[in-house]
Amino acid sequence: MGVIRMKKVLINFAHPAKSRSNINRALRDKTEDLEHVTVNDLYARYPDFLIDVAHEHALCESHDIIIFQHPFYWYSSPAIVKEWFDLVLEHGWAYGSQGRALMGKYFMQAISAGGDAITYQKEGYNEYTVSELLSPFRATSKLCNLIWLPPFMVFGAHRGMGDEQVDAYAEDYRNILIALGNETLDIDTVARQEFMNTRLINEGA
Ligand SMILES: Cc1cc2nc3c(=O)[nH]c(=O)nc-3n(C[C@H](O)[C@H](O)[C@H](O)COP(=O)(O)O)c2cc1C
Repeated sequence: MGVIRMKKVLINFAHPAKSRSNINRALRDKTEDLEHVTVNDLYARYPDFLIDVAHEHALCESHDIIIFQHPFYWYSSPAIVKEWFDLVLEHGWAYGSQGRALMGKYFMQAISAGGDAITYQKEGYNEYTVSELLSPFRATSKLCNLIWLPPFMVFGAHRGMGDEQVDAYAEDYRNILIALGNETLDIDTVARQEFMNTRLINEGA
């Protein structure tokens, strides 16, 4: 009888004010007991932004799926994610002719946004789609030989989301992490979706 090896998921968690977080904290709490998931809290580990590159390389190398979980800040991520990219994604490690460390691993973002989904359309209040706004992340993941997955999105955080809705998102997040781990997710289908959790967003959760 073979033991199923779960794919290992690394969550690079980036929230600068965790004590005031509602959404990201709920998502995180729902996943902490999953054995195949490692949560790497970037602001807690590097309050002075002095990122330990060797440590981050080792973490990436020992995981199959790399997730950046963060609130949407100025249509992008909190600053430490950019610092992480600038320092950790070294030539000869992540990219370049010898840079093969991330090849074949998956890249995904899990993002909470204050705006509603409807505002992230060409005709909407924010004028750009989330896919358009995330293109630097997608381009980076391509350069680094990562397989890009659509983001897991929580919209409408400004509305003061009720506990039930937050819980539905957290449950969906947990289920996606499990499905990524035991490879029960149809990656080809998911890759064609706008979001990992398109179904829940359409249901207006
Ligand atoms: C500095 C800053 C920038 C923000 N920029 C955006 C933004 O560009 N788009 C958006 O939809 N929400 C934006 N927000 C709202 C946050 O995304 C929202 O408060 C957060 O996702 C809620 O998650 P939390 O409960 O885990 O803090 C911003 C908030 C802050 C503090």
